[in-house]
Formats: sequence, C-alpha cells, structure tokens
Amino acid sequence: MSATSVRQILVFTSLLLLLCTAVYVQQPQTNNRLTSLIHRVQHSVSRHVDGFYSINNITENLDDDDDDDDDDDNGDNEFSMLKQPITPPESLPSDPYAQYIYQQTLKVGKHHSLSAHKKPRTIVVGDIHGNLVGLDRFLEMSKYDRRRDTVILAGDMVTRGLQSLQVVDKARQLGFKCVRGNHEDKVIRWRGFLDSLSLQEREIVEGGMIEDEVEDINGLSFQIRLQQHIQIPSDLKKNSEHYHLARNMSKAQYNYLRSCPLIYTLPKEISVRGVPVHVIHAGIDPNQGFHKQNPWVLINIRNLLDNGTPSRKKRLGQAWSDVFNDVQQQRSKKRQFLVVYGHDAGRSFNMKTWSIGIDTGCGYNRMLTGYVVETGETISADCSRSSTTQ
Ligand SMILES: *[C@@H]1O[C@H](CO)[C@@H](O)[C@H](O)[C@H]1NC(C)=O
Ligand SMILES: *[C@@H]1O[C@H](CO)[C@@H](O)[C@H](O)[C@H]1NC(C)=O
Repeated sequence: MSATSVRQILVFTSLLLLLCTAVYVQQPQTNNRLTSLIHRVQHSVSRHVDGFYSINNITENLDDDDDDDDDDDNGDNEFSMLKQPITPPESLPSDPYAQYIYQQTLKVGKHHSLSAHKKPRTIVVGDIHGNLVGLDRFLEMSKYDRRRDTVILAGDMVTRGLQSLQVVDKARQLGFKCVRGNHEDKVIRWRGFLDSLSLQEREIVEGGMIEDEVEDINGLSFQIRLQQHIQIPSDLKKNSEHYHLARNMSKAQYNYLRSCPLIYTLPKEISVRGVPVHVIHAGIDPNQGFHKQNPWVLINIRNLLDNGTPSRKKRLGQAWSDVFNDVQQQRSKKRQFLVVYGHDAGRSFNMKTWSIGIDTGCGYNRMLTGYVVETGETISADCSRSSTTQ
C-alpha cells in the first residue's frame, strides 16, 4: 500500500469517527430536550391541579352553547384536553404566557388641572372588536381631542372585525389606555406560547403536523413524541383568529396589548359620587375581595351560578352586576366603588348604581359606546359598515 492510500484511509476513518461522535452527542441532547419538555408539561399539569380552584369547578356544560359574543366552542384543537371552560380555572392564573399586570392607576395628567374652558374628559370606551370605522366615527362624534381627553379602552379591541391590528395601531398612536379583554388575552398567550418554542417545535405547531393523520408521520417517532409534549394551552385553538393575530402582530403591537392591565383604576381626583372607579373588561366576583380576584374572572365573568361560582355563560344563574350592586349597597361608603366594564354585548348598555356596562355590540356592527366619567354622559357611534358617518 502506498503512503497516499494509507493517508486517505486515515483521513476517511477520522472523518467517520467525527461523524459518529457528532451523532452520539446529538442524541442525549435531543433526549434532554424531550425530558425537559416532559418536565414542563408535568409541572404545568400539577400546577393546574393544585390551583386555587378545584378541578371540579370546570363545569363542562357543553350543551349550554350560548351564541353569545364569546368564542365559538366548535373549533377543534387536536391538542386540547378541555373545551373552553365556562367557569374558572382557565389556564390564565397558572399560564406562564399570560404575563398580565393585575392593576394600574391612571396618572392625572397636567391637563387635568389646567384650562377651565376646556374641561378634561376621561372616556371609557367599550369593545371595539376590530371595527376601525366604528372607532373613527366615535372619535369624530365625541369631538375627541388628544390634549384634553384620556381614553381608556375596556378591552376586546381585537377580533371579529377586519381591522384588529389597525385598531391596535390607532390606540397606540393616540396613547389610549386599555385593560385586557378575553380576546386580547388569547392573542397574547398564543404569541407568548409561540415565542417560547424552539424552531423545531414551532415548525411542528405551525405546520400541518397537528392536524395531519398519523399515516403521514410513519417513521417520525421522535416528532410524534415531541408533538405530544408540546402542550398548547387548552383553551387556545389552532387556526383561530387569535392564533393568526398572534402570528401577524408586530412586537410593538404585542407590547402594547401586554401593557393593558386587568384593572385600570382612576385616581381619586376622577371619581363618581366620591367613590373610586375601576375599569375592568368583564367584571368582578362580588364574593371575593377586590385584590383577590381570579384573573380569569376579571376578563370572562358574566354570571354567577346559584352556588356563587363565576361563569362566562349568561343563561345560568344571574348577572354578576346584580349581586355586586346588592353587596355594594350594604357596604360602608369607604368600601364602595364603581365598575365600568364591557364584555356583555348580550345585555348591551347596562347602567346600575355601582356598575356601568358599555359593550353595545360594535363587534356585531351595532354601536360603540363611551362613558365620560366626569360628566356621566354617554356617547354612541354606529358601527355598521353600510351607514354613512353621522
Ligand atoms: C366551586 O367553587 C366554589 C367557590 O370556590 C365552591 O363554593 C363550590 O362548591 C365549587 N363547586 C364545585 C362543584 O366544586
Ligand atoms: C394575517 O396576515 C395575512 C397575510 O398578510 C393575512 O392574509 C391575514 O388575513 C392576517 N390575519 C389576521 C387575523 O390578521
């Protein structure tokens, strides 16, 4: 054998060795990745079970299918263990993707102490639902003036309408304050979830793998195993509008949505009848302390079941605001407060002593309503596409 061929054999053997080592090293890494995924899943499952609310309280009342202004329950998510729950817990309190701010207090701007001839206004605006036309009409009708007015959006500025992200941009650009609605929540959590995935995991989630039948994936047992351990939070649906918005929105739009707390509190300078005002998307559980509200409740509640359990359905039990108003009435002045909320287009404008519901169905091309805290005035604009600007 010549020296050249010996050298060639040597080079070839070392290359082969290198390749084997690479494959060997790759293997445990993959396994570690899978193990850590499994840990993550086990962790989230145990957190779920140990949660504040008993698992029995996930009342799976699937027959009670309100065609309300909430999410359709008929989308299929292969990864879902549960359908959209109608009572807590939702994944929210234990869901790492939620990243919510519980409460924030409005700062009184300089303009609030100036200009007597141009009285500042704090306007709480109901659920816009991607209806930019409705929002524009509202701003025109209310003679919105950025230097004078503070706008607080009551949540659900996105989904249903065709211009969700344009509404987000407008809100950002005009410096609107906001609270998180159940629809923002899903968009935020989808985005947080997608961002948490590795490239490989993300490909599996975004690709057809989840919907495809097993026949396509013969021989890809690793992918199947991996797929089984990428857990999409149970109430998030693949290919839902939330999913597409989460993927489409820019970082700036995402950051804006995340900046909306669950509760926006007005400072005592801006109060109604001397009691504090809280803006909350859905409402509160009157049987719980104000600082102990379950985040799911704040963005989903419509009713209280007969046993006092909060529910997002409006057919069983009674409106949370009925019970809340009774409870408030019996409270000392020091503990009273007013809640301005959206979320319940089914009940539309709903003014009570201690609660004001302002979702008048812009998401259904009905009206967009704003409540001016300083004057108690309400302003409504037409959200239908056909009508001309008033
Ligand atoms: C649900 O939770 C409420 C309040 O935590 C409790 O009073 C009720 O008994 C629970 N219901 C079930 C079915 O576990
Ligand atoms: C997301 O972006 C795509 C491409 O621009 C568009 O076709 C789609 O309608 C968008 N979806 C949503 C929900 O914004």
